[in-house]
Amino acid sequence: MTANTRAFDRWIRNEFCTLNSKLETLYWQQDDRANVDNIGEDMKSALKTQGEELIATLLAEGNTDEGFDNAFNLLGNVGLYMAACRRHEITEPSRETVSPLTQASALAMHIGASIGVTPRFATAHLTTHNSAVDGTYKRFTDLHDEALFLDYNTKGILAYKRAADALLKIQPLGISHPITADLLKVAKQALQDVLDSNQVLFEKLAADRFFYCVRPYYKPYRVGKEVYRGANAGDFAGINVIDMQLGLCFANEPSYSQMLVDKFLYMMPEDQIILRDCMRRPSLMDDFLDAKDAHSRDWYQQNLALFLEVCKLHGETAIAHHNQLVEKYIRIPSLSMVQQHMEKVTASGPPLPVLLDGLEKLRDKRCAAKRSDIRTRFEDIEILKATLDKS
Ligand code: HEM
Repeated sequence: MTANTRAFDRWIRNEFCTLNSKLETLYWQQDDRANVDNIGEDMKSALKTQGEELIATLLAEGNTDEGFDNAFNLLGNVGLYMAACRRHEITEPSRETVSPLTQASALAMHIGASIGVTPRFATAHLTTHNSAVDGTYKRFTDLHDEALFLDYNTKGILAYKRAADALLKIQPLGISHPITADLLKVAKQALQDVLDSNQVLFEKLAADRFFYCVRPYYKPYRVGKEVYRGANAGDFAGINVIDMQLGLCFANEPSYSQMLVDKFLYMMPEDQIILRDCMRRPSLMDDFLDAKDAHSRDWYQQNLALFLEVCKLHGETAIAHHNQLVEKYIRIPSLSMVQQHMEKVTASGPPLPVLLDGLEKLRDKRCAAKRSDIRTRFEDIEILKATLDKS
């Protein structure tokens, strides 16, 4: 890290976090908590100017060629600054055609393009690639609910990644290999970990705090002339590796492949490689369907039973995400939101009903629900279940 990158990192971890936290306190005291107009203007201006000054020195420094990790970290810091400016409506994408944060945009685009990711902060910056200094990792605010949200996002993502790693390791072994059972058990445990950690988040996170003080930092914002959608916990390859390895979702189906295409650059480069590779592989579900004639073999009975349990658990994580987290923290609070703020609710941009419909379809694919309007594996799962010994 150069002296300038260090200074910027220190600012993000300290003054930046303090200013955001103080602004949140002011917003929270209003009747309309979603309002940010004409409130805390001196602090907003301090945030904008202090960030601008630090970024100007970094831009002048040019490509520091300090390796991927430092470049990615710096992009995250610029991104946090731009996201906070958007949260406080120092910038607002529908008001502008180009970001007024000219230097921050230039720096973000320079780094993003050079390392092959979007020029905005991504989920990884705050979760899996967010280094702690003396026990504290980077955050927008010092609010307890933000820390809770990030802790449990990180736990959930890491657990999904463990499940995905185990499933990928089955490919070279094949479904009849004795060790495949071990890998399916690892995947099962990891998905159970996702369920457990999401349950704790659901019980502990305060819905209004999340909705009014945490979520707004994840809105879309403009970098240069382009608007980039908000970050979400799904921006890593593992979740889709599980979908496709299990065979519950299809890389050649338009709505699913559209989602993959849209998310590629929001993931770490190493995740992009994993996902690309996985898109070309056959699924375990198809392998089991092809092997139905071997149903009397011990390996078939043991491994298929485990495979079906993994599928069930994956479906349960999707159901809990949609019916608990999205419902409690997005849909219900948005019902009471003053209408003028409604169009700004979602992180990815589309109107809330469109977003919810997309997430619901994804949930139903993951749990192989019986639906006639979208392709799910309901029937194939029934066929496979029928080949299991009833004893
Ligand atoms: C996407 C809500 C926590 C996994 C989304 C989206 C919403 C959402 C609304 C759609 C993206 C968008 O807005 O553009 C929430 C809420 C959470 C939460 C309210 C907690 C308060 C988590 C956690 C995980 C997770 C802990 C576990 C890793 C995902 C995934 C996606 C996603 C994988 C991408 C879409 C998909 O493939 O299902 N989330 N989420 N979320 N979230 Fe969450």
